Amino acid sequence: MKAIVVTDEAAGTAGMTLMERPEPEPALNDVVVQVHASGFVPTELAWPSTWTDRLGRDRTPSIPGHELAGVVSALGYGTTGLSVGQRVFGLTDWTRDGTLAEYVAVEARNLAPLPGDVDFAVGASLPISGLTAWQGLFDHGRLRTGQSVLVHGAAGAVGSMVTQLAREFGAYVIGTGRAADRQAALDFGAHEFVDLGSEALEDVGGVDLVFDVIGGDIGKRSAGLIRAGGTLVSVVGPSEARPADGLAIDFVVMPDRIQLGEIVQRVRDGRLRTNIGNVADLDDAVAALNPTKRITGKTIIRARS
Ligand SMILES: NC(=O)c1ccc[n+]([C@@H]2O[C@H](COP(=O)([O-])OP(=O)(O)OC[C@H]3O[C@@H](n4cnc5c(N)ncnc54)[C@H](OP(=O)(O)O)[C@@H]3O)[C@@H](O)[C@H]2O)c1
Repeated sequence: MKAIVVTDEAAGTAGMTLMERPEPEPALNDVVVQVHASGFVPTELAWPSTWTDRLGRDRTPSIPGHELAGVVSALGYGTTGLSVGQRVFGLTDWTRDGTLAEYVAVEARNLAPLPGDVDFAVGASLPISGLTAWQGLFDHGRLRTGQSVLVHGAAGAVGSMVTQLAREFGAYVIGTGRAADRQAALDFGAHEFVDLGSEALEDVGGVDLVFDVIGGDIGKRSAGLIRAGGTLVSVVGPSEARPADGLAIDFVVMPDRIQLGEIVQRVRDGRLRTNIGNVADLDDAVAALNPTKRITGKTIIRARS
C-alpha cells in the first residue's frame, strides 16, 4: 500500500516520504480500515510516540497521522461491534503505524460509526480536535452553563471546536489568537477576541476556565486570570504556573466512541462547523504537509477520491 513514512526525527515534516509499505494485519480486537481521509496534527513529529513503541524501542519507519475516516475492510480475532463495509471514523493508537496510508489497523473500540451523510474529509477532521475540545471542556474543565471561558488559539483546529462547544453549552467565550483570526474566532461563536500580538491578556479580567493550546508565557500569564475554583486546562503540557485558588490540568486526548457520536451529530444538525484548511491527495501529501505559507484550519489528506 502507499503510505507516508518518517525515519528521521530531526528532519520534521520535511523528512516525510511517500513509499510502498506492507498492508497491516489486524491484531486481537482490531479492525483494518481502508482509509478515505486522514487528519494530521503539525506537532505530531515531535511526540515521542511517533518514534518509539510503549517500551521505548525504536519503531521507525513509522507512518504518522492518528485520525481517520474510512471503511472497515477486515476484522481481527474477537472483534465485535463493527462489520466489514461499515463507514467509521476515530482516533488511532499513538504508538502504532497511523493513518497517512491506504490502510491502518486500529482497535475497534477507538472508532465510531460515520453516518452516511457525513463526508469522509469532514469525518477525518473531527476526532482529535473534537475529542480534545470535548474532554477539555467537560471531562477536565467541568464547565457549567453561565461560566466564562478563555480559549487560546480560538480560530485554530482545536480552538474553533472549543469555542463552538462552549458557546453552545451557554458559556461566555473570549477567544484569543493572531490579529488576522479575529473575525474567524467571532464567527465560530466567541463573544470577544483578544489579539495576543497587540492587546493585553490581563485586560480580560477573571475567567472560570482557560483552554490553552499555546503554552509558554501565554499559559503562564493565563493562570493569573483564573477565578477562585476555576481551572486551567492545557493540551500542550503542564503549565509553568498554577491558578492561586484553582486547578491546573494537562491531558492527552483519549478515544471515545460516545463522544465521537455527540460530536458528529452536532456537525450533522449544524451546531458544529469543522475547520478544514486544505485537502490534498495522498500522492501530494508531502507538499501539503510542508506548506510554504500560513494555513488556517486542518490539513486533510484523502487516500481515496
Ligand atoms: N494534548 C492533546 O491531546 C492535544 C490534542 C490536540 C492538539 N494538541 C496540541 O494543541 C496545539 C494546537 O493544535 P491545533 O491543531 O489546534 O493547532 P492550530 O490549528 O495550529 O491552532 C493553534 C492556533 O493558535 C494560534 N497561535 C499559536 N501560537 C500563538 C501565539 N503565540 N499568539 C497568537 N496565536 C497563536 C495559531 O496561529 P498560527 O497558526 O499563526 O501559529 C493557531 O491559530 C498543538 O500544539 C497540538 O499539538 C494537543
